Amino acid sequence: MNVPLPHLAPALRDGGLDRTFLQDVLGGLSAPKKHLSAKYFYDRRGSELFEAITRLPEYYPTRTELAILDRDGPEIGAGLPPGAALVEFGSGSTAKVRRLLPHLTDLAAYVPVDVSEEFLRSEAEELGRDFPRLRVEPVAADFTKPFALPDDLADAPKAGFFPGSTIGNFEPEMAAGLLASFARTLGAGATLIVGIDLVKDKAVLDAAYDDSAGVTAAFNLNLLARINRELGADFDLDAFSHQAFFDENLGRIEMHLVSRRSQLVTVAGVPFHFASGETIHTENSYKYTVPGFRALARGAGWEHARVWTDPDGLFSVHALTASTIRRQ
Ligand code: SAH
Ligand code: AVI
Repeated sequence: MNVPLPHLAPALRDGGLDRTFLQDVLGGLSAPKKHLSAKYFYDRRGSELFEAITRLPEYYPTRTELAILDRDGPEIGAGLPPGAALVEFGSGSTAKVRRLLPHLTDLAAYVPVDVSEEFLRSEAEELGRDFPRLRVEPVAADFTKPFALPDDLADAPKAGFFPGSTIGNFEPEMAAGLLASFARTLGAGATLIVGIDLVKDKAVLDAAYDDSAGVTAAFNLNLLARINRELGADFDLDAFSHQAFFDENLGRIEMHLVSRRSQLVTVAGVPFHFASGETIHTENSYKYTVPGFRALARGAGWEHARVWTDPDGLFSVHALTASTIRRQ
């Protein structure tokens, strides 16, 4: 949707305007079923709220994946080529790579890639302080779009790390496209270590995304606060409520923001009407079976090498090898 400049809030005209963010928001709110992209959750506050989610009793994925990395880190590390540059897609707090680093003695560099730029820079600095012999080269980028790795790593073999089941936040077709693009970025023969959350009991999944302390609700609502601040919108946060549920047919968690009443909201001068009970679909989080993920990876040109799971079968970590590089 194209918005003529005179309609933009003054803050946007005075610079700091992120046109892609604005266009995505206006486009998403103009759709018959209103939606927003989950990547916009992650401003600094959103990244901090996600970290708080990872410590919730109901949110089992992080502690389960960390336990797998602690138990199987030596084997996972042994599968990476010597002298590799390790590229992490959506690195967040770098908590996961910290568990792998002790098993990666011969690393050329660690390249955390994240769209949450301020958080990325501070986490990369802290990692560099804690691992002084490690070369840390952060890249602030949207990994769904083409981006360049640092030039000085051109000759190093590449390995990828994509933990946290972040791939679950993409529709399966888009997830396959993303895996294929990671193969192009990392090169033929590269290894990719991916964390995948597994299908399980609906009650466990519903609780993980609708915690009793309301942290996930705050994470979801922060998207509206960000749009207010960065795009000159007037969302009343009290007029929307958090909703999350596992859809067993689609195999995914859906998160929504539900309008509590009939209301008009203005974003950068553009009015949007919300009926009472109407929702903005803000996130999907697909859950896979091990064979289901293996098939998805194979379709994207990745050979499945190994899988590690926890004793309760809640979460899985996969080692893949780039067998075929698919052109776009
Ligand atoms: N890997 C961490 C963080 C997962 S949260 C963990 O396992 O705990 C998802 C992370 O991916 C966030 O840090 C978010 O900012 C980042 N992210 C989400 N979409 C992204 C995109 N399109 N490009 C780059 N980073 C993205
Ligand atoms: C980052 N991503 C994998 C999280 C997930 O579980 O889908 C984001 C999240 N949303 C709500 N809680 C956590």
